[in-house]
Amino acid sequence: MADSRAIVAIDQGTTSSRAIVFRADGSIAAVAQREFRQIYPASGWVEHDPEEIWSTTLAVTREAIDAAAAAGLRVAALGITNQRETTIVWDRETGRAIHNAIVWQDRRTAGVCARLREDGLEDLVTDRTGLLLDPYFSATKAAWILDHVDGARDRAARGELAFGTVDSFLMWRLTGGRVHVTDATNAARTNLCGLVSGEWDDELLAIFQVPPSLLPEIRDCAADFGETDPSVLGHRLPVLGIAGDQQAAAVGQACFRPGDIKSTYGTGCFVILNTGDTPVRSHNRLLGTLCYRIGGKSTYALEGAIFVSGAVVQWLRDGLGVIERAAETEHLARSVEDTGGVYLVPAFTGLGAPFWDAEARGAMFGVTRDTGRAHLARAALEAVAYQTRDLFRAMAEDGVKPGTLRVDGGMAANNWLMQFLADILAIPVERPVVTETTALGAAALAALQAGIYGSLDDVASSWALDRRFEPSMTPATRRRLLSGWDAAVARTRIRIG
Ligand code: G3P
Repeated sequence: MADSRAIVAIDQGTTSSRAIVFRADGSIAAVAQREFRQIYPASGWVEHDPEEIWSTTLAVTREAIDAAAAAGLRVAALGITNQRETTIVWDRETGRAIHNAIVWQDRRTAGVCARLREDGLEDLVTDRTGLLLDPYFSATKAAWILDHVDGARDRAARGELAFGTVDSFLMWRLTGGRVHVTDATNAARTNLCGLVSGEWDDELLAIFQVPPSLLPEIRDCAADFGETDPSVLGHRLPVLGIAGDQQAAAVGQACFRPGDIKSTYGTGCFVILNTGDTPVRSHNRLLGTLCYRIGGKSTYALEGAIFVSGAVVQWLRDGLGVIERAAETEHLARSVEDTGGVYLVPAFTGLGAPFWDAEARGAMFGVTRDTGRAHLARAALEAVAYQTRDLFRAMAEDGVKPGTLRVDGGMAANNWLMQFLADILAIPVERPVVTETTALGAAALAALQAGIYGSLDDVASSWALDRRFEPSMTPATRRRLLSGWDAAVARTRIRIG
């Protein structure tokens, strides 16, 4: 008889909230999705309304549970995966946030980070957390909220406030305010948690001025996080898996052996390389971070984080209005032989790895009277591949040379881009059948804890290849394109005004 158990994975991302119903064999039974507002209060600032994060998450989770029932499935557990680093501070009494969520892309604390760097603190922070002193991470965002909301520091001192990344906020809401937890991978992105200790670090809390009273408890990625309150979803459902979205994608892509590597093309692009049971310190401004923590055992990763990939296509659609649907970019890119010499550097919120230039802003070069929307679309897609290659170059300088790359996320569906990526990286690119690897990873963690999966091998054995893209570009063409890109990035970093 077929197994009727299902897992609902909540995937709370940067631009939309989704809930996906997975059957016990890892196949997808239903998907629900809602987009929500991006709020840009100033140049380089990005916020979300926590109530919209919550209402869209709640709506899609309810839809998914109903869809599971309609398909004759019984939801055994929930898994949660989320946009990482995005910071929320809320009132423990009312559960309401005291400020909008400050999103991972937000650069408002660049000055604070620069001052801490001048004070010579970057080495300590990197040694302890694997991360860098950059506004990307949660610590300076939490301190900013405490410093800019009237009375917040006093209220924090009285224990009235809670801090959390999005997973933590959702857990609070799902459990009716009974549970304040996070998982080890999300904690590892705050700059407040020791990478090896897996615990909040007093010295870091003092440096970033975040009071310990605000913090959630840290658990493994597969754990009993708590049960949903019946008043919220109409059911008591256990939440048994949590991981930051990129780490969840690494699980969904079955990156379980040292050297396994994946790249996820969502709003941003994040490359995660499994480095096994020892943390690796990058000398080329990549991040040392967690891949996952299961059964108290940490598996580490080297990560490259790019702030804009899918967001550049969203900008073509919503900002410039030159396309109606993201999928059009594939046809447009194919319709021209090249970009006509156009390079688009989408540093909309600064540049992430390996440059970490919070002040850089986007730029376009080589535009002529002949430049049309097809060239623009192609330049936008090419930029995604070039940025991935910048990460691979940094990894190579750290002594790591991956043999193949597993890809996922919305843009992985773009065949033209995946071929160009293989050409630019000069290695094969593999796309799995299930590209919802982020949600799949969260579901797998919950399934592991629920006993539906016996071990991670069950995830690995259900990974199936959809298509492999072999590099076919000549080395001379690759070199020419990359030297144009390198020049464009260098010019983007020149300050104007
Ligand atoms: O670090 C930020 C990342 O977790 C956001 O992922 O998929 O929303 O671009 P995504």
